[in-house]
Amino acid sequence: MTDVTIPEGGFWPAPEVPQPNIYPMEWRVETAKLAAIYEKSKRMVWNPADLPWDLLDPAAFTREQRLGIMYWFSVLANFDASGPAVFARATIQAFEKHEEDPVRKCFFSITRDEMNHEECCQRSISRLWPGGPLGWEPSTDLEHAAHNNIGWLYHNGGRYWTGYNAAVGKYSLAVLFTSFMMGEMAASTLFRGMAGATGHPLFSEMFHKIGRDESRHLQICMTILENEWPGLTDDVRSLITRQLRAGFVFLSMILWEPPEGFWELPPYFLHNHRVLMDHARDAGLGVLSYDEQAENWRIAMARVRVIVERWGIEFPAIPELDIEGVAVDVIDPEDIIPVF
Ligand SMILES: [Fe+2]
Ligand SMILES: [Fe+2]
Repeated sequence: MTDVTIPEGGFWPAPEVPQPNIYPMEWRVETAKLAAIYEKSKRMVWNPADLPWDLLDPAAFTREQRLGIMYWFSVLANFDASGPAVFARATIQAFEKHEEDPVRKCFFSITRDEMNHEECCQRSISRLWPGGPLGWEPSTDLEHAAHNNIGWLYHNGGRYWTGYNAAVGKYSLAVLFTSFMMGEMAASTLFRGMAGATGHPLFSEMFHKIGRDESRHLQICMTILENEWPGLTDDVRSLITRQLRAGFVFLSMILWEPPEGFWELPPYFLHNHRVLMDHARDAGLGVLSYDEQAENWRIAMARVRVIVERWGIEFPAIPELDIEGVAVDVIDPEDIIPVF
């Protein structure tokens, strides 16, 4: 029984697997640098449950401050908590399109990290405002304003998700990853700024750890883009210019304040948002001032600009921050594909 069976006329070839499909399996490595980043990501994993949560004492804050912190994390969750689902989908797509193995693994590691970032939102909120973001009954005007604003934020988060789902299969890695790169640039900038500004040891440690993850995500995006950008056509270049403007419009909600062009918000939203952000700032969360946020965002954009212009991609005009460039007017939800 040690001999195998060889049919007369030879083996029958298995049918080809229709593509896109995750099969046949293979583990091709083309970019050693990505494989190295993935190895590093496994060694740097941290556990949000091990942060010093006992230092976060609800009694150390006023009710308004606790509401403000909950509100900020609810805004953050609009971005960071979409990360696991966004990257899980991108991971599946990378398998189906047979991207090289380290690309798939890096997407997976970002999914893993974003799950931790989401957990930080979850734990911070449940400790300070049980039932938050939305499963609680507001009693004061301020609380009603917070609850209502969060509802509107998540309405827009839902539009982003619908658009992302329609977009993710349509765009090449170059387009997707320029948007992702902008999101990671925004995220690393945000957490670096807040890690330095917060007076609270728990938030300081949390923001440092998240910021370190976001810098690694940025490195992953850059490494993928170095492979993808050399083959760009002019069509794709102008699509990327649009996407960069879309990224600015979308991400400004957490980095700064929401500009016109995508966000569907009631007219009172922004004023109430500012009042709530003031309470979060007052609580020592590390929320930068309006001007500091604008300056940080401007610096982050300048970095993105230098990177994309090297590849002949024009930067969009950002008049909100006095940045000159190509005018991009209408933003479709399907243009909004960046992720933290
Ligand atoms: Fe990220
Ligand atoms: Fe994140």
